[in-house]
Amino acid sequence: MQKLLFSDEVEMPKAVNVASVPQLSPFRYPGGKTWFVPRLREWLSSQPRKPKKLIEPFAGGGIVSLTSVSENLVEAAHLVEIDREIAAVWETLVGGNAEWLASRILSFDMTKDNAIEALSLKRKSSREVAFQTIIKNRTFHGGILAAGSGFLKNGEAGKGILSRWYPTTLARRIRNIDLIRARLSFECRDAFEVLKEHKNDEDSVFFIDPPYTAGGKKAGSRLYTHFQLNHERLFSICSELAGDFIMTYDNASEVKDLARDYGFQAKPIPMKNTHHAAMTELVIGRDLEWMKGINRVLEEQVTYPAKCREKGKKTRPIKAVNSRHKGSVHIQGSLPSK
Ligand SMILES: C[S@@+](CC[C@H](N)C(=O)[O-])C[C@H]1O[C@@H](n2cnc3c(N)ncnc32)[C@H](O)[C@@H]1O
Repeated sequence: MQKLLFSDEVEMPKAVNVASVPQLSPFRYPGGKTWFVPRLREWLSSQPRKPKKLIEPFAGGGIVSLTSVSENLVEAAHLVEIDREIAAVWETLVGGNAEWLASRILSFDMTKDNAIEALSLKRKSSREVAFQTIIKNRTFHGGILAAGSGFLKNGEAGKGILSRWYPTTLARRIRNIDLIRARLSFECRDAFEVLKEHKNDEDSVFFIDPPYTAGGKKAGSRLYTHFQLNHERLFSICSELAGDFIMTYDNASEVKDLARDYGFQAKPIPMKNTHHAAMTELVIGRDLEWMKGINRVLEEQVTYPAKCREKGKKTRPIKAVNSRHKGSVHIQGSLPSK
């Protein structure tokens, strides 16, 4: 019997209940990583020293940066996001306009007509774009800002667009971000450029959460305006980073292939999607020993079909070494000789 190279049949802890994690972001972000926070703490605490900087090149709602700084797991965080609308929110918060945004939200009378009017404003400053982004994120289906999205119809308990509009909570989160602003920085840029610029930073760590579109998968393309990405290039840049990094990805065969090619470890982690269905994502990094209790997806040992040996064929030992990179995956076992 052939043992799978990539076995997902592993003991799995339960998915994290996101209600147990402090919600620090003003966004309800599609693909948000609130559920990952307990593992984030483990990862950052396992570093030999407190990292000077966490770099989050696909920041989205930024929960990873906000948690890392708020809980003093890193000294500072640098968020990067290419989407102009999301960037406007981060620029407003990091640029000292948090109080303006909090007050704007608190004084807004949320009705569908008022939301349409606020969104139709054409000439606008960056902080007004930020306000529009928050309105869309909180009143559009699934928090999705990408083209094709629109107002929630029924929402929670038939409350329509009001079902996710919590002005007091939003204002509190925004004011709390203002308190840690000095330790946050933001750039509206391409993640690849920023990763390259920081590739020699030994004191930085990288949390990398790209849109999930590897292998032509659709998930990321529905959710984000910017979803096209050269995933192989991302893996390649990661292999050059001097600082530690982790990536999170959908549990797809193309992703596992890339992880294997680049000699990275990959472990499945349970989560619940927006429809509360249990599923797994992958955490990928150079060394995931800090992720206790979860086995690696990339099996170290592989057995080849007994049939070949029965026929008395000679075998040649195999060692799967990645030709392109430093890392290698050693597969113990043997293949039939050519
Ligand atoms: C999976 S989401 C990140 C979610 C985030 N980790 C959170 O918890 O909210 C991916 C994000 O990457 C952004 N993005 C896509 N391509 C990018 C690029 N080339 N550079 C920077 N950001 C990019 C998308 O706009 C999207 O916000």
